[in-house]
Amino acid sequence: MSKDQEINETSAVQVNGIVFSHKDISKVVDAFYRKVEHDPILKVPFRSVHDWPEHIKRLTHFWWIRFGGKPYMFSHYNPVTKHYFAGFNQEFLSHWLNLFHQTLNEKLSPQQAMIWKTISEQMGQGLSIRNEHFKKEYENKRFKSNR
Ligand code: HEM
Repeated sequence: MSKDQEINETSAVQVNGIVFSHKDISKVVDAFYRKVEHDPILKVPFRSVHDWPEHIKRLTHFWWIRFGGKPYMFSHYNPVTKHYFAGFNQEFLSHWLNLFHQTLNEKLSPQQAMIWKTISEQMGQGLSIRNEHFKKEYENKRFKSNR
């Protein structure tokens, strides 16, 4: 049996006692990136994504394992470098979070939406801090190699 087949619509994880099925996660991620793809602001940094179904699959898996689910596909995530080169900044982040929270309200129960909002805000803050560190290191290296 391939690893992909270990997940089905009833597979579920719990975050602080709130149940998320794999289907809950995939419907949020799917609806969110359909919005991103056509969003006038976010479609600009997301132009690096050419295979949207693949991106949605990777990101569904990302949130599934972030919520404590068992990994079921091979994936290595490198969000800090990718976000830096996508032009990550505060304006994009607040727009991203608004759209994401809107999607959570549309697709989930209020309790599920609330907990995922909190987690996404924390991750957004973490990404901002790590992006600033990466920026300093990267620009410092570039400066040294240009001397
Ligand atoms: C809490 C907020 C966010 C979270 C949790 C998040 C999470 C992620 C993750 C896990 C990936 C996959 C990384 C990989 O494949 O190694 C990704 C990819 C990406 N993110 Fe975000 N992201 C957030 C906000 C943003 C924002 C604000 C932008 C706008 C610049 C952005 C732009 C992108 C792009 C363009 C990619 C795809 C890169 C590529 O594969 O070409 N993300 N994101």
